[in-house]
Amino acid sequence: MRKSWQRTHTCGELRRSHVGANVTLNGWVHARRDHGGIYFLDLRDRYGLTQVVIGEQLAATLKFGPEFVLSVRGKVNAREGAQVNSERPTGEVEVIAESIDVLSASPVPPIDISGATETALETRLKYRYIDLRRAQMQRNLEHRSRFINAMRRAFERQQFIEVETPILTKATPEGARDYLVPSRVHPGEFYALPQSPQIFKQILMVAGLDRYFQVARCFRDEDLRADRQPEFTQLDMEMSFVEEEDVFAAWEQVLVETFRDALGVELSVPFPRMRWEEAMERYGVDKPDLRFGLELKAVDTWARSCDFQVFRGALESGGRVMGLVVPAQHGLSRKDITDLETVAKGLGAKGLAWWKAGEAGGAGPLAKFCATPEAARSLMQALGAAEGDTCLFMADRKSLARKVLGELRNQLGRKLGLIPKEQRWAFTWVTHFPLFEWDEDAQRYFSAHHPFTAPEDWSLGGAMAGGSPDLGALSSRAYDLVLNGWELGSGSVRIHRADVQQKIFSLLGIGPEDQKRKFGFFVDALAFGAPPHAGFALGLDRTSALTLGLDNIRDVIAFPKTASATDLMCDAPSTVDPSQLAEVHVTTVVPKA
Ligand code: AMO
Ligand code: AMP
Repeated sequence: MRKSWQRTHTCGELRRSHVGANVTLNGWVHARRDHGGIYFLDLRDRYGLTQVVIGEQLAATLKFGPEFVLSVRGKVNAREGAQVNSERPTGEVEVIAESIDVLSASPVPPIDISGATETALETRLKYRYIDLRRAQMQRNLEHRSRFINAMRRAFERQQFIEVETPILTKATPEGARDYLVPSRVHPGEFYALPQSPQIFKQILMVAGLDRYFQVARCFRDEDLRADRQPEFTQLDMEMSFVEEEDVFAAWEQVLVETFRDALGVELSVPFPRMRWEEAMERYGVDKPDLRFGLELKAVDTWARSCDFQVFRGALESGGRVMGLVVPAQHGLSRKDITDLETVAKGLGAKGLAWWKAGEAGGAGPLAKFCATPEAARSLMQALGAAEGDTCLFMADRKSLARKVLGELRNQLGRKLGLIPKEQRWAFTWVTHFPLFEWDEDAQRYFSAHHPFTAPEDWSLGGAMAGGSPDLGALSSRAYDLVLNGWELGSGSVRIHRADVQQKIFSLLGIGPEDQKRKFGFFVDALAFGAPPHAGFALGLDRTSALTLGLDNIRDVIAFPKTASATDLMCDAPSTVDPSQLAEVHVTTVVPKA
C-alpha cells in the first residue's frame, strides 16, 4: 500500500494530459523563487524538475531550504502563454501545492547542483552524494548502465555465459603492482586482488566453458592518469577454438548491437585492421586517432643525400629521419614551431628541424640544403608537401622519432582543429604487436601484452629448440581495439601449450622455482588438454567516457579515487586499529610523522 506521503508521479512525468489530477511528488528542493508571498519551487528527482506553486498561507507554515527533501501534494495546473517553459518536458504544467511534508532537512550544500558554477574537484569527491545529484552525473551513470546492459544482452545472444571469478586471489602479471590482502588464517600469507581475470578465464576455457564473459572489477596499483583508476571495470571475454578474426567478429557484433541499443548509433563493420608496425610508422603511436590525416613521412632516403650533419649523424648511428607536413592553410607561425620544439625536447628530442617548403629553396634551417630545385623538389616529393607547407623533422632513434612526431601530430590535430566536430567513431584493430618490449630502466625484456600471449611463430625464433633469438624481433598475436586515439581494449590469442608457456616464463627471467610457485597450477591446467583459445577485455570506464565525449573516466565512475588513489568521501586508505593489524599478523614500519 502506498503511504500518503509517497509519490504518485516522478518529477519528470507530468504533462498537459495530467491537468486537474491530484498528485503527490517526492524530491529535492532544486530552486526557489519568492514572488511576494507566493513561492515557485522546482522539485527535482532523477527524472526531472517540476514547478510547484506554494500560496501565501501554506508558505507561512513552512520552513525549508535548498536540498531539503519534500513530499508535495497538490493539483496539476496548466501553464499558459509566457508561463510555459519550453525547455523542460514538464514545462507546460505546474503543481499547486495543497500540503507539503518535509521528509528530510539539509544544510546549504557545498556544490551548486544546477551546474551554473564550477565546484572544486576535491569538494565534488568529498561530497560525492551531492555531486551525483547533478543531472549531468546522473546521465553519465544511466549511460554507463545502459551500455553495460546492452553489452550483456549482446554477449548472451552469442551464447557467452557470465562467470564470476575470485577477487581474493593470487598475483596476475599484467604489469602493474598488486593490491595485497593479508590472511588471518594463514599468518604471513597474502591474497592479491586481481589485476584482471586473465588466468581464471583461460582456465575456464580448459574447463570447457567455450565462451565466457564477465563485467569484471580489476585492481592495479599504478600511477593514475585521466584514463586510469586503481579499480576499474572490464568487459572481459574469452573463447575456445578460435583465432583473431573470430574474436574480432564476435566483438564487432557486440559493439554494433550495443551502440545501436544504448546510443542509437549504427556502426559500420568490419572495423579496419592495421598492423602495429604500420600504426607506428604512419602515426607514431599504437593507438592512432584516425579522424584526421597528418601522417608521419619517412625521409631517410632524402636525408642520406643531403649534407645536414644532424640528419647524417642520426642515420649513421642506425636512426631515422621522419617528417610531418602541416599544410600552408594552417599558417603555422615561428612561435608555434618554437613551442612544438619545446614539446619535442620535453619528450627527449634533441631538436626539431623545420622547412617551409618551396621549389626555390623555401625557408628555415633546412633551406640551405634545398638550394637546388632538384633537392627541394625531391624533399617535397618524399613528404608529399606543397609550396608553402610547413615541414617538421626529427632525426633520432626510430622509437623516439616516432614517439615525438606521434605526440606532435596529436597536439596539432587538436590545435589546428583537424578533428571533426561531429561525433565520429574511428575504430580500428591494431594487430601483430611485438611479443616483448625492452625496458631501459630495468635493462630487461617484458611481455608487451602479458606472458600468456601466443607468439606469431610457435618455435619462438628457435628458442623452443634451445636457440637464443633476438627477443625484440619476435612478433605476437596480441591486438588492441582503438577508438579516436584511445586504447579501448586489448587481447590476444593465448598460449595453450604448457611447454611454450614455460619457455616464455624462462625468457622473461622467471626461473623454474618461481614458475612453480607462481604459475604451477596454471601450467598444470594447460597440460590437461587446453583448447586453442583467445580473448579480449574492453575497458568499460573508458568506453563509457568516450561515448559521452568526456576526457576523464572519473565522471563515469560513481565513487572514483583521486590522482593519489584516495577516496576523499570515506577517507580511504586509512589507518586501522592495532588489534586489527595483529589479527592479520601485520606490523607496519612507517616512521611517525
Ligand atoms: P589490459 O591490461 O590491456 O588487458 O586491459 C584491458 C583494458 O582495460 C582498460 N584499463 C583500464 N581502465 C581504467 N583504469 C585502468 N587503470 C586501466 N587499466 C586497463 C583499458 C584496457 O585496454 N587481461 C588482459 C586482456 C586480455 O588479454 O584479454 C588485460 O587486462 O581500456
Ligand atoms: P643546429 O645545427 O644544432 O643549430 O640545429 C639546426 C636545426 O636542427 C635546429 O632547428 C634544431 O632544432 C634542429 N635539430 C637538432 N637536432 C635535431 C634532431 N635530432 N632532429 C631534428 N632536428 C634537429
